[in-house]
Formats: sequence, structure tokens, C-alpha cells
Amino acid sequence: MTIRYNAVMNDLKTGGIAVIDFGSQYTQLIARRIRELGVYSEVYAHSSSAAHINRHRPTGYVLSGGPSSVYDVDAPQLPAFLHEVDRPILGICYGMQLLTAAQGGEVAPASQREYGPAAISHKPVSPLFSGLDAELQVWMSHGDRIESLPPGYRPLAASDNSPFAAIGDLERNRYGVQFHPEVRHSPDGSAILGNFLFRICRCAPKWSAAAFIDDAVSRIQAQVGGERVLLALSGGVDSAVAGALIHRAIGERLTCIFVDHGMLRMGEAEDVARVFRDEGGMNLLAVNAVEDFLSALAGVTEPEAKRKTIGALFVERFAEEARKLQGIRFLAQGTIYPDVIESAADGASAKTIKSHHNVGGLPADLHFELIEPLRDCFKDEVRQIGQALGLPEAIIWRQPFPGPGLAIRCLGELSWARLEKLRAADAIFTGELAAAGLLRAGTAQSFAVLLPVKSVGVMGDKRSYEEVLALRSVTTDDFMTADWARLPQDLLARVSARIVNEVPGINRVVYDITSKPPATIEWE
Ligand code: XMP
Repeated sequence: MTIRYNAVMNDLKTGGIAVIDFGSQYTQLIARRIRELGVYSEVYAHSSSAAHINRHRPTGYVLSGGPSSVYDVDAPQLPAFLHEVDRPILGICYGMQLLTAAQGGEVAPASQREYGPAAISHKPVSPLFSGLDAELQVWMSHGDRIESLPPGYRPLAASDNSPFAAIGDLERNRYGVQFHPEVRHSPDGSAILGNFLFRICRCAPKWSAAAFIDDAVSRIQAQVGGERVLLALSGGVDSAVAGALIHRAIGERLTCIFVDHGMLRMGEAEDVARVFRDEGGMNLLAVNAVEDFLSALAGVTEPEAKRKTIGALFVERFAEEARKLQGIRFLAQGTIYPDVIESAADGASAKTIKSHHNVGGLPADLHFELIEPLRDCFKDEVRQIGQALGLPEAIIWRQPFPGPGLAIRCLGELSWARLEKLRAADAIFTGELAAAGLLRAGTAQSFAVLLPVKSVGVMGDKRSYEEVLALRSVTTDDFMTADWARLPQDLLARVSARIVNEVPGINRVVYDITSKPPATIEWE
């Protein structure tokens, strides 16, 4: 294969970086950081074929870290075509060790595992560290280390623990770093990745929200032709942005169905109608199914049973409305890239429907072709696209909200009165957080939970016996693990006082100080 730097690239995705995954928890982050620098990047399983990895004609490759040791019997191997390829390669942690072992160097267990912050000093010989201070703070996480370099390689940076914190074969554009430039704990990590992209690979920075929108609009127009598209709007950011994008591409040939199941937060159903129909001019069919859902949920207290009831009824009501709209060929979904990576490992598999998505499992008589315009986008990119499409901040920055909505935050029996109580308390909590600047940044998910517990209190010299409300607020990057947010005490005091004073039927407020694990984020 021959490399053609600065070749003319018409397609937004060509000439980017292929990230090859060896099992690191940070692999997605590598691709995100590269895209933040304006270069398209996609993640591939190490077992993918050369044709698949090269389908967008990448300019360079990044090999991720991973939990294995290169000499383990089952250790993931370097894809064979990379031995020969003459485009630049950057190996990170396990990726660097793999490159070393594959090219004739030696890797061995380090006497000390290195985990956490470390200082490295680099030599002013390589473009990888161009423009950076001689001493850098980086984040390490590894057990093995390089003992001897392959022919043609030289050390580029050293740490206390190793003379080979970064290595390179400058002739052949092969580089390796023992640390993780993709994590925020490596403050110069983005600059190092930027040097790899622009000084070594000579990528053209052409990936941006505006470029994505132009590209997606023409793709949607080409795919849909003169046909019509149906979309289930949930009020969440992914379906909202998918809707706005498709609307820009095909206008009135998009029809959105919004099923109001009554389990939404305060003002949410009204916001959807206002933003999409009144202000956005979309064809929006708002279905008020609150009564149906409440009667189906009467007496249901077990959380899984609530989920199943809501899921089944949602599909039933959505299908009922969809059947009335004859002649629609496409169904759009707000699937995003992490859903694709998580369910397909490399994004290679055909169609992936969010397993928790409400319109998964439509009845057999409804045949739609799927369109997923955000399939290649990370959540932060979805937000940027939404912003560029002019969606209001309140929708773009909405925190994640479970499909079954407040049904799983209103523990015990559901009734309209209890849901209203929960909505009012939740609005006070999130309103105070927003005013303190802690809703959009600072907390990843914050909400109120109404407990199926009554306790005694004293209000205005009278004994009260009313419900308990829990506040939950967590910080997390990936929602797989989470810590409880250390909210300011005066904010918690204000929220508690306002809730017991303003929401009749609640006389006690507690704050959840459990991390995940062992607890989950939702209470259910
Ligand atoms: P847990 O409670 O398992 O939640 O720690 C992790 C994240 O997933 C969200 N969640 C859901 N999202 N449909 C969704 O779309 C669901 O049924 C569902 N259940 C939980 C939860 O809000 C948190 O962000």
C-alpha cells in the first residue's frame, strides 16, 4: 500500500484514523479525542478484516491499550496487514507493546505495576512531542514494560519507571507511548494526539458538526428519495437531534409520533409539542395515552413488571398510530455510536436496535426500513449537531432519562397524584441545580425518587404522616460506575426546605450517598 499524503478527499470519513481495539476501557475515548481535533475516527475490533478496517481509507492507525500481556497464549495479535502498511501507526500502552513484540523488540512484566499520574521527559527529536514542554504529566496504567526496542526504533521519552515511556521509528512513522494520551489526566494528551494527526499523518481537519450536517442531509435525501419517514420522538436528545436532522433533509415528509405515557418530567410533554411542532414546524402527532398507561399500571409495583407493561403498551400505541399513517417506508431511530460499539464490538454488524428503545419489537405487519442518521456520532457530537441545528439548550443538555420514565422513580403504586408530587419535587431539585450551574456540568444525572414509605413528622405543631422523597445526584463518565455528587450543603438544605414547604404530602427528604456499584443510579 502506498501512502498519499494530502490526497484529495471528498468524503467526510475518508482520510481519518482507524482505532484498533485491544480491549481497553479507554478505546472509545481515543476516537472521541481524535474527532474533537476535527478528524474522523472509527473503532474496529482487532479481529476485523483488513478490508473492513480500511473501508474509509484511513490515513493512520491507533492501536488501543488492553488488559492482556503480549505473550499470553490468547493475547490479541496485531492485524497482519499492519506489518506491511506504510501509513503511520501509534500504539498506546498494550498497542505499543504489541508493536514492539511484533517488530522484534522485547516486552516483560514490570517489577512494579504503574498506575496513575507520572512524569515523563522527552527528547526534542520527534514530531510527536513537538511544541510541548520537556517535562510532561501523563497517566499510566500498565503491568508490562518494554525491555528492548525493535530494530529502527529509538527512545523518545523516559519516566522514572522506564527509559521507554515513548518510542518511535521516525523513518517508518511507527510510534508508541506507554501512557494514555486520551484521558483527561494526561493534560497534554490532546496535543500529542494532535501532533500524530497533523504532523505525522498529515490529516486534514474536516470533521465538524456543520460538515456532518451537510453530509448527513445529502445521505438522508439520497436514501429516502421521495418516500416518507416515521420517527418516535421521546423528548430525549438523541431522537430530538435525529428528528431535526431528518426534518432539515426531507421537511414535511418526516412524521413524528410522540406518545405521552404520563411518566415524563414537569413540562416535558408541552416542550416537545412547542419545540417541534410550534417552533420547528414539524409534522408531530402527539398521542395522549396517559389514561391507558395509568390503568394498565394500576396495582403494578414490581419494577420489571412496570417496565414490561410500559414497553408493551408503548409499542401497541405507537403501532396503532403508525398503521393509520399509510405508505411510510422508513423508520428513523436515534441510535448513536456508543450503542453500536457496545452491541457490535466493532460497528461492523448490520442493524442494531437499542435494546431498551421503545420501538424495538414492532409487530410483524409493520415493515419499515431503518434509518439511523446518528449512528456514527458520540453523545457530545450529537449535542453539537443539535446546537448547530438550532435546537434549544433545554433539549440538547437534557440529562439521560430512562424509557419507562418516572414509573421507575415513583416506587410502589403509581397514581396521577403521586406522579404529580414527584414531578413537583423533581422540578424544585433540578431547578435549584440548574441555578447553581450543576445540571449541565458538575452532575451527570440528578433526580428525585418518591419512596413507598411514610414517616412521622411535625408541621405547624401538628403531627404529620407523609411520604419520603429521596434525592439522587451522581457524577460519572460512562454510567457503568458512578459516584454520588458532593453537592453543596446549603443547596441541599434549600432544596429540602422548599420541597417540604411547597409539595403537599412530602414531609421528609433524604440524600442518597451510595456509589454504583454496589447501588445502581436509578432506584426502581
Ligand atoms: P442504572 O440504574 O442501571 O442506570 O445504574 C444506568 C443508566 O441507564 C439509564 N436507564 C435507562 N435508560 N431505558 C433507558 O433508556 C431504561 O429502561 C433505563 N433504565 C435505566 C439510567 O437512567 C442511567 O442513566
